[in-house]
Amino acid sequence: MYDALKKELETYERRTPRSREAHRKAIERVPLGVASNYRYYPPYPLFVKDGRGGHFHDVDGNEYIDHNLCYGALMAGHCHPAVMKAVQHRLEVGTLFGMPHGLELELAEEICARFPVDMVRFGNSGSEVTMHSLRLARAVTGRSKIVKMEGGYHGGHDAISVSVKPKSTEFGDPENPKPVVSSAGVLKGTTDATLVAPFNNLSAMERLFAEYPNEIGAVILEPIMMNIAFCMPDEGYLQGLRRITAHHGALLIFDEVKTGAKLARGGACEYFGVKPDIVTLGKSIGGGFSLAAFAASRKIMDVIATQKMFHAGTYNTNPVVMAAGLATFRGVLTPASYAHIDKIAAKLLTGYRKIVASAGLTAYVDGAGANGALMLYPSRVRNYRDWYHLDEDLWTHYWFAMANRGVIAQPYWWDEQWTLSVAHTEADIDRHLEVFAEIAPALAQAQQERQLVPVHSV
Ligand SMILES: Cc1ncc(COP(=O)(O)O)c(C=O)c1O
Repeated sequence: MYDALKKELETYERRTPRSREAHRKAIERVPLGVASNYRYYPPYPLFVKDGRGGHFHDVDGNEYIDHNLCYGALMAGHCHPAVMKAVQHRLEVGTLFGMPHGLELELAEEICARFPVDMVRFGNSGSEVTMHSLRLARAVTGRSKIVKMEGGYHGGHDAISVSVKPKSTEFGDPENPKPVVSSAGVLKGTTDATLVAPFNNLSAMERLFAEYPNEIGAVILEPIMMNIAFCMPDEGYLQGLRRITAHHGALLIFDEVKTGAKLARGGACEYFGVKPDIVTLGKSIGGGFSLAAFAASRKIMDVIATQKMFHAGTYNTNPVVMAAGLATFRGVLTPASYAHIDKIAAKLLTGYRKIVASAGLTAYVDGAGANGALMLYPSRVRNYRDWYHLDEDLWTHYWFAMANRGVIAQPYWWDEQWTLSVAHTEADIDRHLEVFAEIAPALAQAQQERQLVPVHSV
């Protein structure tokens, strides 16, 4: 670890003693002291006190501009008034029935008006709906294998807990990546059914279909890979996948848990003009509540309608969350909001690019819709293998230096990206850029000094 980074870590510890103490206590009862492994980072994570709009306070009273926004689940910002009002009303008339109440139809109509789908089933988390989307694809095609992208994350269930962040010692040939189980406890046999492909590589996908004729039921992917920071599909790649899957009788699943609300009104389907067979939604569609959905054509959903495929859940469409979702679709994910996000996103991207250039940092900046990231790479990342080699210390320096100056530039870990909310203002973006301009020369200097030092990798 180099001196400038050490100094930022010392400053972090000096500013956040209550977080350190809260974490010290939490690890006694909660593994890692956090409720999701992603939330832990050394030396300890910030513990939060409250949030409003585009800002939050930690337990030491420090205020931050928030571009973590719960890993991209809060394009609405904290406590959006329309969402709060809808939820408060529901809190007074019953929170849970396990019976239909009509809001499911209203929200399904909103989704079908934006995405190329006819029918919707709801759940509570992205993991849940990607899990059911795979069952749906298997039920419809009668095939058991699925293909996911190397480096792709779709939640915590077994079927997709393969090659999420595989190590170079185990991941094999880049053209034909070896499926690697990503957690202790995942069924070893998972890799028989879950195949792995490199993103942005149509010939590798063709080869998999040739190797397993009539066995692959679905290809699941994020249209923009946002679990390796920010990785755009090459021109024509998604259209190519559409063609290949259709040709081989497999379904194409767009996991739009991240892109669904934040990329455009109709998500990646609209943005790229591609119609997948199944769409999964989560995160920002709930306006801060745990709402998720999977959606498809009437023909596909018929396996559920005819009771051939089972899908259930006690908390599905609980009225509080549905009210939050409806308020989000109608009051937050509006044309005016997308125009605002586009404006501040352009300002942030342009500002970052200018600062990167003037500081002489070897990096680029990419983004679309409400998401984007500083990519500390010499050239565009096209897949997991490109993303894998990063100067982790330099990225850590960036994150803590920004946090110490009141900007959570993105969730911690370099596989994430920033989210902009409707509550962020131009003044927030100005401040974000001011802070980045302040720290960029030190990043560039550290980068130049470390050129001879081998980079780390995850
Ligand atoms: C693309 C994608 N799909 C699915 C999930 C899982 O969603 P959840 O954390 O709500 O289970 C995530 C979570 O980050 C995600 O990024």
